[in-house]
Amino acid sequence: MNNVLELKNICKVFKQGSSKIVILDNASFSIKKGEIVALIGPSGTGKSTLLYISGLLDKANSGDVIIDSQNTKKLNDNQKTKLRLQKIGFVYQQHNLFPDFSAVENVMLPLLISGKSKKDAFDIASLHLDKMGLVNRLHHRPAELSGGEQQRVAIARSLANSPMLLLADEPTGNLDPYNSEMVFENLLNRVKRDNMTAFIATHNPILAKKMDRRVALVDGKLIDIDDKDNLSLLHNSSIGKKMLEAF
Ligand SMILES: Nc1ncnc2c1ncn2[C@@H]1O[C@H](COP(=O)(O)OP(=O)(O)O)[C@@H](O)[C@H]1O
Ligand SMILES: [Mg+2]
Repeated sequence: MNNVLELKNICKVFKQGSSKIVILDNASFSIKKGEIVALIGPSGTGKSTLLYISGLLDKANSGDVIIDSQNTKKLNDNQKTKLRLQKIGFVYQQHNLFPDFSAVENVMLPLLISGKSKKDAFDIASLHLDKMGLVNRLHHRPAELSGGEQQRVAIARSLANSPMLLLADEPTGNLDPYNSEMVFENLLNRVKRDNMTAFIATHNPILAKKMDRRVALVDGKLIDIDDKDNLSLLHNSSIGKKMLEAF
């Protein structure tokens, strides 16, 4: 088995007052080593929720999240944090950089937490920022950087520990088309060159088409939209139909 991420029968329900919203309904799915998979679906369908659950940042009501062949169900919070540090990089939609820290300090943080010396962390973080074209922005704080630059710092931070699995939540969602394409190319190049595995939410069809595979979140389930066997399933759902038209 060389699945880096495996989701089995994931259910997630949010309670809102007295009503319940089913976001994930027995969603199952896996990603093999080296694959780059697009997670698509209109906003509100549960993409962020699914990525948070995959990255052990949120818990499913039921089902299994298996990372690098390890079932994470019985791990305690410390063990989850450790696994995240060692194996997962996460890019938040709203970059989530620390405003009081410079670009290089933001990227150094996960390295310091995982035990690197200050000097090593600085050297590695600088290299990652250099690869993102930010060598002249090491000491800028997030507020002194453009949106595209901030997002590239966030990507550099997510890659700092060389994670085997990169989870990215609409990493270019807030950028203009030019920056979006540039940041995305940077991200894809890094993932491919280092043979990482990535699961990337986007509702940009052009970006989705650059990935190896596309799965749509439709009515709480993950459906491979490139698989012809799933066409009837998609046609039977209003969201599914829209996905087929757009992608
Ligand atoms: N903590 C929460 N409590 C209640 N409802 C939530 C919570 N988080 C997300 N939701 C709801 O779940 C749905 C899916 O949200 P989300 O995963 O953010 O979708 P997407 O990323 O596809 O836009 C939305 O309708 C949202 O309102
Ligand atoms: Mg989202």
